[in-house]
Amino acid sequence: MDKLSAIRQAVKAHYEKYVYPRFPLLTSVRECDTYALNLESLWARFNGTRLAPTDGRILLAGSGSFSPYPTAVANRKARITALDLSKANLDRARLHTLFHLCFNVEFIEGDLINAKTILGRNRFHFIDCYGVLHHIPDVIPALQAIHSLLKEGAIIRIMVYSTGARKSIQAARTAMRLLHIDEIKTIKRLYRKADDHSRFKGCIESSYEASFDWGLADMFLHPYAKTYKIDELLKTLGEAGLEPILFAHPGALSDTGQEIARLRSLELANELSTNFILFAGRMEDSEIRLAWNRRKQIEDTVISLNPAIKNSLPLLPFKTLKPGPKLGFQNPLIDLEANRLLSKFKRPVWKSNMEPARWGAIQPYLQAMFLIETAAA
Ligand SMILES: C[S@@+](CC[C@H](N)C(=O)[O-])C[C@H]1O[C@@H](n2cnc3c(N)ncnc32)[C@H](O)[C@@H]1O
Repeated sequence: MDKLSAIRQAVKAHYEKYVYPRFPLLTSVRECDTYALNLESLWARFNGTRLAPTDGRILLAGSGSFSPYPTAVANRKARITALDLSKANLDRARLHTLFHLCFNVEFIEGDLINAKTILGRNRFHFIDCYGVLHHIPDVIPALQAIHSLLKEGAIIRIMVYSTGARKSIQAARTAMRLLHIDEIKTIKRLYRKADDHSRFKGCIESSYEASFDWGLADMFLHPYAKTYKIDELLKTLGEAGLEPILFAHPGALSDTGQEIARLRSLELANELSTNFILFAGRMEDSEIRLAWNRRKQIEDTVISLNPAIKNSLPLLPFKTLKPGPKLGFQNPLIDLEANRLLSKFKRPVWKSNMEPARWGAIQPYLQAMFLIETAAA
């Protein structure tokens, strides 16, 4: 067996043993927290056109055991395909979706590298590849496979480890490999003995996932976990014909060029502390996105509610709602006043029919993607 196949087999074996993430089946998500996974809203944001909910095709590339469920909540009418190397993860994900009455997900066991063969002529509007690419040794062919599965105007969400944020974890991983540590109970014993101020204890205590065995296994026992610097990530995306269209990690700037410059200077100063989360698109669709950005500055547009927010508004109008931050910044609160303002958009409203004060008031909600803007209703 060649080296790459051996790594892939080891990655699969890891996830067959350690289902990731292993949340209890009762764990539920609020629909409002899934707003950034809603395909109609993503499509509007980057393309300016409306996509009918039933037309949406979504691929979870490396779905793990949980993400099919929130994605299905955000997109109840879309057709979702969950592809993963690990049967154990898919079995758990299937249970989780059925338990929460989501029936629009198809589960396929397979390697992303073979996605074109596995998925045939299927093409997708949105591919979510969150926390997966850094576990794939031949990443460029994997990204090229993803590129070939994207429809015109499609969006991909990516999360990969950054070299800056993973420094302590990578150092601990290397030490464990050298010491032949391959059991969770040994890691826990080391933790109990570690000095209170050690980097090892620090990186365990600063991670929510490290309080679970599956999280510790993912941090320290994973057979392959590469980290990226921003320029290597951009080069890798470029080789697959992809470009970033919006960064979404904590603190990210909304302008892609400015965010890349910010990340480079944080890396130079050794101060980068987040992994990279971004939306990307096909390079050949760049003009579609640019044209939409120009058009919305000068032409009339239509504003409507993100369906995931729309469904959450009537529940308890007197209770303040704060959807969890998914685009890199804290969300505006949906209090009674915001609820009243947002409710005006349950039906699409033309920008030209809006007073300037209202147009100003909705800007934070447009930026947060609670509201969506399209060229036509
Ligand atoms: C860290 S988990 C992330 C899961 C999920 N995307 C999430 O955000 O919760 C990585 C997942 O990618 C899957 N994976 C890794 N390499 C893969 C490959 N080459 N093809 C398909 N799935 C892969 C693993 O089996 C695992 O379920």
